[in-house]
Amino acid sequence: MSSFAGPAPVSTNPLLALADDIRRERAATVPFPPGETSFSMARTRRFARDPLPLLLEAYERFGPVFTLRILHGNVVFALGPEANHHITVANAANFSWREGHFGDLLPLLGDGMLTIDGAFHRSSRQIMLPAFHRERIEAARDVMEDEVQRAIDPWHDGMRLDLYHWTRELALRIAMRALFGLRQESAPQAAHDFEQALGFYARDYLLQIVRGPRTPFTRMQEARRRLDALIYAEIHRRRATGQRGEDVLSLLLDATDEDGTGLSEQHIRDHVMTLLFAGHDTTTSTVAFLFYELARHPEQRDTDLDLLLDETLRLYPAAWIGPRRSIAPFELCGVHVPGGIPVNYCSWASHRLPDVWEDPERFDPSRFAPGRREAIPKGAYVPFGGGSRTCLGMRFGQAEIGVIARRVLAGWDLELQPGYALRVRQMPTIGPRDGMPMVAHARAA
Ligand code: HEM
Repeated sequence: MSSFAGPAPVSTNPLLALADDIRRERAATVPFPPGETSFSMARTRRFARDPLPLLLEAYERFGPVFTLRILHGNVVFALGPEANHHITVANAANFSWREGHFGDLLPLLGDGMLTIDGAFHRSSRQIMLPAFHRERIEAARDVMEDEVQRAIDPWHDGMRLDLYHWTRELALRIAMRALFGLRQESAPQAAHDFEQALGFYARDYLLQIVRGPRTPFTRMQEARRRLDALIYAEIHRRRATGQRGEDVLSLLLDATDEDGTGLSEQHIRDHVMTLLFAGHDTTTSTVAFLFYELARHPEQRDTDLDLLLDETLRLYPAAWIGPRRSIAPFELCGVHVPGGIPVNYCSWASHRLPDVWEDPERFDPSRFAPGRREAIPKGAYVPFGGGSRTCLGMRFGQAEIGVIARRVLAGWDLELQPGYALRVRQMPTIGPRDGMPMVAHARAA
């Protein structure tokens, strides 16, 4: 079969998914790891609103591999260096992404990189890889510099801005232009549509499963359709004009498998949508958290930007959870885990384990300085995942955050607006729930 065939469709009916979870849990042939396995709405809500303390407490009580019943089903969490390495590298083939909770993103993203496995994933990654090689990232720097300059031009001394929203539009402009050659006049509308579509995943779970007019699901699908129109228009324009460049869209349009078959239009759309999402949402949150910490630690202002970024991604790894479904039963850290059940690694909690990190809550970029960095155990620090499915956009994201942060730091001091208290929203990525309201002070030349 062609490696471009794509996976079988998965039902996006939440009730069927629920029933399937229950069926698979009952079929488990191995007992679940220790944990809290009775139904609890309070725990379910806590997980949705504030998962970090819940996970750290469970680690304390049960060890690195434990079970929490979230809503209707048992979910296994595996924290710490050994667990991260096991899931992302050593035994990665025993875990499906599509059948884990990334599957919840199917109604928005379709069969893109976050929701596919096996041969289709490998061939898709192969197609897109050249767009993320070092020299392509270097070429994209010009686009990044140009867009940042344009976005920062209107800033004036004493200006109040929401840095999170400012960065979202900027990051989307950069991703649209550098990765897909898309028209950037549509960036503000696209930023708004993404915010609306992604906001769906931050809603109460019970609100997410209702369907019908004026429900959150329907509004998410409306935003999806507007984004689709933008993507399909560009696919059709490129097909009609034959115009190509060195961007990801050109690679997707021209790719053929061993039989000479191309990717379906639907799959091209799914890859573009997934990269647009993954390529702007994570960088947006990271820039906001970086300047949040710098506003609270002005003494760190002149610290090496790479160290600042590493430490920001330790405390706030935007893609904080790696949701999977185990295929066969396995053993990890001396604990047996059934096959066929949700298993998550979690960088956010792993990055704050007191037995792995000294003073884990402290913002301390020097822990990544040469000399100290080497002491970090393998698998302890995984903001970009690991193994053969390491973040495809890692270098792109790092370069982009570097360009934005350097440009801001060169001319401005950002202060948090008075009364601001950070609340973190966790789905589908972590970000500041109420944006990042700041005041920009021009630096004396
Ligand atoms: C600070 C920025 C970013 C962070 C923290 C981040 C984090 C991650 C993480 C943790 C994963 C693995 C998830 C898992 O194991 O379950 C991942 C995968 C991925 N990321 Fe990123 N990411 C960032 C930026 C980007 C950018 C800019 C792009 C695209 C332009 C991108 C595209 C992807 C893709 C396509 C995958 C799936 C790779 C695969 O399955 O082969 N990411 N990212």
